[in-house]
Amino acid sequence: MRAPVGTPRRLAEILADSGAVPAGWADSIAAVPRELFLPDVVEAGGEVVSRSVSPGRWLAVVYDDVPLTTQINDGRELPDGAYRLPTSSSSMPSVMLEMLGLLDVAEGHRVLELGAGTGYNAGLLAHRLGSGHVTTVDIDPVLVERAAANLRAAGFAPRVVCGAGEKGWPGGAPYERVIATYTVPEIPYAWVEQAPAGRIVAPWGGSFFSHSFAVLDVADGEAHGRFSGYPAFMRTRTGRPHRGYLSDFLHHTDEDTPSRTALSPLAIAGDADAQFFVGLGVPDAWHLLVDADDGSGEATWWLLADDGKSWAAAEYVPPGDDADRTYAIGQYGPRQLWDEAERAYRTWDSHGRPTRARAGLSVTRTGQRVWLDAPLNVVG
Ligand SMILES: C[S@@+](CC[C@H](N)C(=O)[O-])C[C@H]1O[C@@H](n2cnc3c(N)ncnc32)[C@H](O)[C@@H]1O
Repeated sequence: MRAPVGTPRRLAEILADSGAVPAGWADSIAAVPRELFLPDVVEAGGEVVSRSVSPGRWLAVVYDDVPLTTQINDGRELPDGAYRLPTSSSSMPSVMLEMLGLLDVAEGHRVLELGAGTGYNAGLLAHRLGSGHVTTVDIDPVLVERAAANLRAAGFAPRVVCGAGEKGWPGGAPYERVIATYTVPEIPYAWVEQAPAGRIVAPWGGSFFSHSFAVLDVADGEAHGRFSGYPAFMRTRTGRPHRGYLSDFLHHTDEDTPSRTALSPLAIAGDADAQFFVGLGVPDAWHLLVDADDGSGEATWWLLADDGKSWAAAEYVPPGDDADRTYAIGQYGPRQLWDEAERAYRTWDSHGRPTRARAGLSVTRTGQRVWLDAPLNVVG
């Protein structure tokens, strides 16, 4: 018999059925009530669900394997029609478990979590390791207060701290494990210092490609490791580039400089490994593939700089009878974004198109380096 919808046991079943529960976490999922960590109104995949209006629906989404957005635009009131950027959430349980599996905790470990959010993940960690072994940090004072209250209501009392996650929390160091639940373009060295013989797990990447977990082991003042997964987390609030409507980034559309290229834009847009490596060369631009709605199979791949000053469009046309296998490019602004992406792609191509699995990351006092196969073979 299935556990009733809207209960922690039901969530535990859903996660077990999909093979998402790493060893040692099943009891915590069944024991920690996610409902105690969520506000009365949550957003689940664009659906706004209010506990007071639809209590049954609210419990059903809370105990489903879905991410729930709990804050928009850093909690600021904005006029109607303003762009809505999700800025805090209770992450998708199966993705949290994927991270907790990578974290590989054991009894006695002290864990530092960056990105307390609702406090639910800290609650799972406190259930598994004991409250005294968990420190969780968030940059938003309102969220910190709420997370601490949620944790208290669930019977846990880890250290809940307000601060910029990139500084870690030296007051609780040394830690055996560090986990970030927001994406960082760079692993702060403070995390390495504060977990001198530990492991760091963090969503990693820039605007171009941020769908990687970095899993690093620390020894002798350095962290080294590899990438895995395809997570989609919110970005660190520190140094976060502006995000908005496409029209904020796409302007002067009739003033672009045209050219042609032999490289199909789909060679990048349709290949996650290519995107990982191109992202090393163009970390500060994002991209969007828009299919033509006329059934032609044509598509435009937009490249948009974080600073909103430059953009590029690459027009994909399916191969036809003519011999012309080139694609139209338009570029606008101080940067030639397509040229930058194509150069980074050609570099990846010249290395034999390696998969991301062959890449690694090292973090030392002087910064971070991405390498191919071995730490001395630096590629980014
Ligand atoms: C996806 S939510 C965290 C989910 C959370 N672990 C949970 O279980 O509910 C990401 C959180 O990271 C926080 N955050 C973003 N950038 C930060 C930074 N630089 N330092 C600390 N917290 C940050 C946000 O305020 C947000 O609450």
